[in-house]
Amino acid sequence: MKILTTGGAGFIGSCFIRQMLNNHPNYKIINLDCLTYCGNLSNLKDVENNPNYEFIYGNTNDKNLVRDLIKQVDCVVNFAAETHVDNSIKNPEIFIETNVSGTLNLLQACKEIGIERFVQISTDEVYGTLGKTGYFDENSPLAPNNPYSASKASADMLVRAYYKTYNLPAIITRCTNNYGPYQYPEKLIPYFISKLLKNEKVPIYGDGLNVRDWLYVYDHTSAIDIVLNKGKTGEIYNIGTNNEQTNLEIAKLILKIMNKDESYIDFVEDRLGHDKRYALSSKKIQNELNWKPKVEFNEGITQTINWYLNNQNWIEKIEKRTV
Ligand SMILES: NC(=O)c1ccc[n+]([C@@H]2O[C@H](COP(=O)([O-])OP(=O)(O)OC[C@H]3O[C@@H](n4cnc5c(N)ncnc54)[C@H](O)[C@@H]3O)[C@@H](O)[C@H]2O)c1
Repeated sequence: MKILTTGGAGFIGSCFIRQMLNNHPNYKIINLDCLTYCGNLSNLKDVENNPNYEFIYGNTNDKNLVRDLIKQVDCVVNFAAETHVDNSIKNPEIFIETNVSGTLNLLQACKEIGIERFVQISTDEVYGTLGKTGYFDENSPLAPNNPYSASKASADMLVRAYYKTYNLPAIITRCTNNYGPYQYPEKLIPYFISKLLKNEKVPIYGDGLNVRDWLYVYDHTSAIDIVLNKGKTGEIYNIGTNNEQTNLEIAKLILKIMNKDESYIDFVEDRLGHDKRYALSSKKIQNELNWKPKVEFNEGITQTINWYLNNQNWIEKIEKRTV
């Protein structure tokens, strides 16, 4: 199988490429990435000389390039996105350009050229927020609350429309918050760690009681592998683990592992439109495709924190680059 992965120099895409090259020595992967501040080729240093891997510098909005690449592959997995909610609140336009127009450009090229499978990597944020109880399933209505989630929901609608209108063999996956190595240190876990390494306080929005379901990145990428190979065309698959943690609980855990006390917590003004709780039912992917997360939260989070502590150079280098 030959796969075009977009956004593969980012956090989840780089873990996906590493895992796929390890688990499927007969697969070839082309990684199209325009290396925004989140895209980092050093995330893939260990595979850069693998003969089954090729990096192409470029943008998902580049019509000619995208067409050329799609002619060479059987499947597309679309990770490329602007991903930071705070940035989307300040500057939504680029989120529409990449997350919506970039996806449309990929879909259009796939429709014209033909493709065996298109997998759209989406997010639980498209469903909006939950109260203290309940779970979103794949039939829950879309109710995005910030420009990032609205752009992802828009892309999902386009993917659905290309399946319904043109019979494009597309699938959408919607995952919860990922954690693991190689995540850009603007996101909660690496951000807190990078702050504490500088002996600075960790800022927590509002009361810190916003709940997220944390999914280990390689459990996520193994689910994408299964969806790519066994998923049913036109379907949506939620991917979550029921590891619900408040932001405050995550902060306290990191403080404990890094031997800092709770005086390092700094409660700051809440994010605009901050969703209170996300939680998914993943029964469909578990029952129909037999996927199960393997990494238990305490083990995964400890490994992850230790990875950042052992790779402080990675954080320093990435933080020195201009955004
Ligand atoms: N990280 C999470 O917890 C999470 C949760 C749910 C869904 N997702 C989704 O998973 C996908 C990957 O997320 P991530 O955390 O790895 O993101 P990331 O920000 O770490 O990486 C995004 C990558 O996309 C590339 N990119 C951006 N615009 C591009 C363009 N126009 N053309 C080509 N490449 C471009 C960047 O250079 C970067 O390498 C995204 O679609 C995101 O919405 C992430």
